[in-house]
Amino acid sequence: MMRDALMPPEPLRAQIARSNVALALATTEVDDMPLIMVNRGFLRLTGFEPDAVIGRNCRFLQDETTPRDQIAAMAAFLHDDTRDDGRFPVLNRRLDGTNFLNLVFLSKLRDRKGQIRFVIASQFDITAARQTAALAHNDAALIGTLQTMRQTIGQFGLAMTDSAGLIARSISTLARFAVRDE
Ligand SMILES: Cc1cc2nc3c(=O)[nH]c(=O)nc-3n(C[C@H](O)[C@H](O)[C@H](O)COP(=O)(O)O)c2cc1C
Repeated sequence: MMRDALMPPEPLRAQIARSNVALALATTEVDDMPLIMVNRGFLRLTGFEPDAVIGRNCRFLQDETTPRDQIAAMAAFLHDDTRDDGRFPVLNRRLDGTNFLNLVFLSKLRDRKGQIRFVIASQFDITAARQTAALAHNDAALIGTLQTMRQTIGQFGLAMTDSAGLIARSISTLARFAVRDE
């Protein structure tokens, strides 16, 4: 599920493969941040096969109906060296053509010099407001995955910010949406 030349450390790959949440890893060492690895959760959510996504920037999930400001919010985050994690709702399209509102979590992985080496992402379908309970379930798993990942990558001189607070805030934000809608 990845290009050999740009392989992340094996324990990180194993964790991504094992996690129950959708995960995608991009490299910053090649122009335009192509994906170098995705897991089963990502493939299940989007409907794509690994060969169709590895080596491509993840914007292939967007289409002409995706609001420009949603895309701009992610671009601004990736260009802003003062921000290391963020969560962004963006209208995406699966391989089968169906649209879904994707809540994309992004976190930068930095080396000892502070250079960004990878970006890890986690996607979740929040199309239905009633997904609140499912999001809470997903996010508990996501927080767990990221905590183990932070320890693992530390052994390779890589660091990732603690995103538990950001992730917890997303649940309460979505919960407020859900209450309003009903
Ligand atoms: C690892 C990673 C995963 C991403 N996942 C998604 C995604 O699931 N859906 C999406 O619309 N954009 C995703 N993005 C954002 C786009 O790849 C891109 O950064 C965004 O469209 C802004 O850049 P652009 O204006 O150059 O397109 C992801 C980015 C990275 C680095």
